[in-house]
Amino acid sequence: MYTETLTSRRSFLCLTGSLVAGAALPAIPHNVLAAGKKEEKESGVNPVEDLMREHGLLRRVLLIYEEAISRINGARKLPSGVIADSADIIRRFVENYHEKLEEDEIFPRFQKAGKLNDLVKVLLAQHQAGRRLTDSILKFSEPVALKAAEAKEDPSAAMQQMYGGTPFFGRFSLLRGKSPDTKKELASAMQQFIHMYRPHAAREDTVLFPVFRSIVTPREFDELGEKFEDKEHELFGKEGFEKMVESVGEIEKKLGVYDLSSFTPEA
Ligand SMILES: [Fe+2]
Ligand SMILES: [Fe+2]
Repeated sequence: MYTETLTSRRSFLCLTGSLVAGAALPAIPHNVLAAGKKEEKESGVNPVEDLMREHGLLRRVLLIYEEAISRINGARKLPSGVIADSADIIRRFVENYHEKLEEDEIFPRFQKAGKLNDLVKVLLAQHQAGRRLTDSILKFSEPVALKAAEAKEDPSAAMQQMYGGTPFFGRFSLLRGKSPDTKKELASAMQQFIHMYRPHAAREDTVLFPVFRSIVTPREFDELGEKFEDKEHELFGKEGFEKMVESVGEIEKKLGVYDLSSFTPEA
């Protein structure tokens, strides 16, 4: 939606310019029209802008993880599914799409150009570490795993919650073999994820991406922008990014961290 708005705004400005020119000139030469069309085509989200706005989405999930950790540590209520849903967004959108693009289209070009090799090596290793952490977060945030941790703290309450009031002892075996430290392990995996991804995304935004334009031709840069958008549409539909943002917003609402003004210090 944002992309379309941006593109439409730019197209409108472009069109307005053409109309003003048209008022002064009876006919618009073909080369002017062609230039306008080219400008319109290039006005979509460029590859770096695309990756950076995806980092914005990642940062919002880091905030969710932070709030979830605080609730786990403070033994406060954690709405069901918020961690698993957030980790699912990280898996599908950040790891399998955003990072895959970096690994397929960005990092190899730096390696080929012989630039920022050490940084790229660290970034790649961090992608792998991130995927391992997400495996853990998904595993430990499974309803049964969390219920098992709750049962350790208060067996009767957790069983009533699991089986709708009347404990069904035949299914108690589900709780066996689960680590009593599940919540601790979950909080630790999320904390490590936050600890690594804040500097990771910041380094890509401030060091890697600004250099990227200089190692590809302008044409390659534009083509990559289109390729990234096509891939996004193919995997997540026409407004895939916007839908992801909406999903993250819904999770933020459940955790009370959606209202941006709540982060403003009181005067
Ligand atoms: Fe990355
Ligand atoms: Fe990234």
